[in-house]
Amino acid sequence: MSHGDPSGLEPIERAGIEELRELQLARLRWSLEHAYDRVPHYRSAFDAAGVHPSEVSSLADLARFPFTTKADLRENYPFGMFAVPREEISRIHASSGTTGRPTVVGYTRADVDLWAGVMARSIRAAGGRPGMTVHVAYGYGLFTGGLGAHYGAEALGCAVVPVSGGMTERQVTLIRDFEPEVIMVTPSYMLAIADEMERQGMDPRSSSLKVGIFGAEPWTDEMRREMEERLGIDAVDIYGLSEVIGPGVAQECVETKDGLHVWEDHFYPEVIDPVTGAVLPGGEEGELVFTSLTKVGMPIVRYRTRDLTRLLPGTARPMRRMEKVTGRSDDMMIVRGVNLFPTQIEELVLRTPALTPHFQCVLTRPGRMDDLTVRVERRPDASPESAEDAGRRLAGLCKHNLGVTVAVEVVDPEAIERSMGKMRRIVDER
Ligand code: DLL
Repeated sequence: MSHGDPSGLEPIERAGIEELRELQLARLRWSLEHAYDRVPHYRSAFDAAGVHPSEVSSLADLARFPFTTKADLRENYPFGMFAVPREEISRIHASSGTTGRPTVVGYTRADVDLWAGVMARSIRAAGGRPGMTVHVAYGYGLFTGGLGAHYGAEALGCAVVPVSGGMTERQVTLIRDFEPEVIMVTPSYMLAIADEMERQGMDPRSSSLKVGIFGAEPWTDEMRREMEERLGIDAVDIYGLSEVIGPGVAQECVETKDGLHVWEDHFYPEVIDPVTGAVLPGGEEGELVFTSLTKVGMPIVRYRTRDLTRLLPGTARPMRRMEKVTGRSDDMMIVRGVNLFPTQIEELVLRTPALTPHFQCVLTRPGRMDDLTVRVERRPDASPESAEDAGRRLAGLCKHNLGVTVAVEVVDPEAIERSMGKMRRIVDER
């Protein structure tokens, strides 16, 4: 996909901000009208809010439209949110969620192409180039990670190795034998693969890998340093969610590694106050909300992601950046009155040399208040005694930096179950 430009960038990736805003406004009008005309849920929600797509004369007018939540998608299970007849749908994905009905999403042929296009753009921004080999270890199936990465890598002109998640020994064999330059996988599973490389006597730095495109779960800059160091790669963040399209909604550029550029020519972002719903000015932290601008099969209007971040001006691209996601509002722990996310624990764990980033936050309620125990594996080369010291040090760091008393339980290597996809950071024993 060179688009005739030697830099390989699409014209919109080099456009001025005014051009981008104009395009967004035209597309927003179309998308709201499409949703209103074709999806009964949006028609009644817009009518109830007293708004009509024809009244939109600026991007700010979007704020008058109602939000869409996961509950709305569940109530319209399975296909009630689709905007086209069934025969025009060419792909269906679903996210299982922890409770209740799964959330179902549908794509037309054109949507699948659009998705491949934004994924190709993402892989390119991460440092992937036509002709490279891409090892895809995101799960294939109803989860959007595997197939999303797959179609994108193909569209960019790469050779795809569609491994999916699991069979960690084989992941290592395939990396050694097929020599991919790019790996796409959750950051937690990348760690499990790196551990397995070492178990097999292979130096992770000696592999062919140059770029890791990590996402589907929150991870920190400390984790980036750990993985870049350990694997000798560039580690960049990719964000997305099935309700909006899948992976490829936002991508970090390898040349700046300063947050993720939202591909806002297709997905319009807002950040809101999660309590009042008011749109927050740029730079303020809140809940991320997306409106699709070009999707046909299942347009989405002001979808509340529950992900917490802030929007910042563009750097390597004209599109705004979202800061690395701190966590989901659902994953916020309240420990003795202090609001806390697993990513904050991750930062501190990684500052403690005898400990690995394999950790879990275990919540219990012995009395009336919640207690947090950080269960964390020691490094294989750290003695149990030095690991105990490290545990005390981590508890001290938590107290000092987060203002909260946590218990730390240092466990042996491999004691915490490995995930092949998204890692479960919080174990709720309350
Ligand atoms: O996780 C899509 C995806 C696949 C993204 C592969 C990136 C790579 P869902 O299963 O619908 O879709 O889960 C979406 O995952 O709302 C966030 O809470 C979380 N998430 C996704 N990417 C990131 C990221 C895929 N880079 C939910 N950082 C989202 C933090 C992320 N959280």
